[in-house]
Amino acid sequence: MMRIDILTIFPEMFDGPFNHSIIKRAKDKGIVEIFLHNFREYTTDRHHAVDDYAYGGGAGMVMMAQPIVACIEDLKSKTDYEEIIYLSPDGELLKQPLANRLSMVQNMIMLCGHYKGIDERIREHFITREISIGDYVLSGGEMAAAVLTDAIVRIIPGVLNDETSALSDSFQDNLMSPPAYTRPYEFRGFKVPDILLSGNEKEIKKWQHEQAVERTRKKRPGLLEE
Ligand code: ADE
Repeated sequence: MMRIDILTIFPEMFDGPFNHSIIKRAKDKGIVEIFLHNFREYTTDRHHAVDDYAYGGGAGMVMMAQPIVACIEDLKSKTDYEEIIYLSPDGELLKQPLANRLSMVQNMIMLCGHYKGIDERIREHFITREISIGDYVLSGGEMAAAVLTDAIVRIIPGVLNDETSALSDSFQDNLMSPPAYTRPYEFRGFKVPDILLSGNEKEIKKWQHEQAVERTRKKRPGLLEE
């Protein structure tokens, strides 16, 4: 079973994303265990502070090393972790191949920061990997950790009912998915392409592939070159 430990000062932010749909199913099936840790509980500060002013000045507080490292070390004393990931806009951009690789990791920690970031010494000495979910700045790492968790967990074999459905995702082959239709055949005068009703499986597959290539060429031409 995969084990993900998430370090955050806002564990409640994960109540929604982890208790519905695919991640909930993966937890119920015993495929993944997710533990949330509020590292504020590890502070030795008498005011329970987890952040402090930045050396050198400047706006914004910096998260202190002590509570975060105490939490990491507590976890490491009980479990071997292959990855300790820090979610950060200056990390490696998350793309499908990275999600695929991380879906094979047994135990990992995800660290969510806030404010102006975390003390650099944590990144230098305790973090194995830094990941960004896109070129924009979020208020904290929580949403990024939820996105990363979802991308990783859904592709673990056995999570999706039809195992081929993760392989046929957009991005697994650098192609966007072809258009999909369901009933009714005619909606407000707009019809489903007749090829899909032809029953000719080979021709349908061929059409879907052409559509996927065409769609990728139009919407994401860069992917065809990768
Ligand atoms: N924290 C703040 N912004 C982020 C981003 N884009 N990706 C990952 N973590 C973040």
